[in-house]
Amino acid sequence: MANIIEANKLTKKYQDGDSIVVALDEVSLTLSEKESMVIIGTSGSGKTTLLQLLGGLDFPTSGSVVIHGQSLNTMDDDKLSTFRNKTIGFVFQFFHLLEYLTAKENIALPLILDGQSQEVANKRAEYLLKQINLEHRTNHKPTMMSGGEMQRVAIARALANNPKIIMADEPTGNLDKVNANNVLELFDQIAKTGVSILIITHDESMADRYDHVLYLDKGSVQPTRK
Ligand SMILES: Nc1ncnc2c1ncn2[C@@H]1O[C@H](COP(=O)(O)OP(=O)(O)O)[C@@H](O)[C@H]1O
Ligand SMILES: [Mg+2]
Repeated sequence: MANIIEANKLTKKYQDGDSIVVALDEVSLTLSEKESMVIIGTSGSGKTTLLQLLGGLDFPTSGSVVIHGQSLNTMDDDKLSTFRNKTIGFVFQFFHLLEYLTAKENIALPLILDGQSQEVANKRAEYLLKQINLEHRTNHKPTMMSGGEMQRVAIARALANNPKIIMADEPTGNLDKVNANNVLELFDQIAKTGVSILIITHDESMADRYDHVLYLDKGSVQPTRK
């Protein structure tokens, strides 16, 4: 099976006043298409930095990222944002829904940005609302929804353009146990449809749920404990 992610010796250094913080130190990983991976690390271990580099939201100080056969390093901003919108669905701890848009409009937005007609975008959004069992929230704005509902809408939005991979940064970090479990079950369903899943979390109990687990500590990959 082809690789969906190939990361080679990713290093990210931040300038912090007079000192330099090495947030990631030569991290390499690969993930095959249709497979899932969880990256586990404590706060400050470099998880968000790594996800941002793998998703082309930020650039490494050194090292390379290839997603679905395409090198991110050589893309200009326009090409990169088009590629991201088509290939990767992002999910974040605090949902990042647009608060002035309804659930349906939030889900439709990536399709509109991709140049689809309003009609096509609406149809797809309605279909996805059904998939996540939130048809009754179609015209609700985020402030009218629970955290669990908001995260499911965010996941539907991530699926809008039929991505090859979902990348999620602490997707259950702001949810109670029941809602966290609903969200993880939704990811399991998505994984069964052949979409790759990459989740990063501090929650060690998620280690056994995915095809691969990788531990991150102080910016470095640790030998697998599984
Ligand atoms: N923009 C930034 N400027 C300076 N330091 C940063 C920046 N972003 C992250 N860091 C530092 O890099 C390290 C890793 O951060 P991060 O990737 O957010 O970790 P995690 O998501 O695992 O909590 C931390 O020491 C953090 O303080
Ligand atoms: Mg983080």
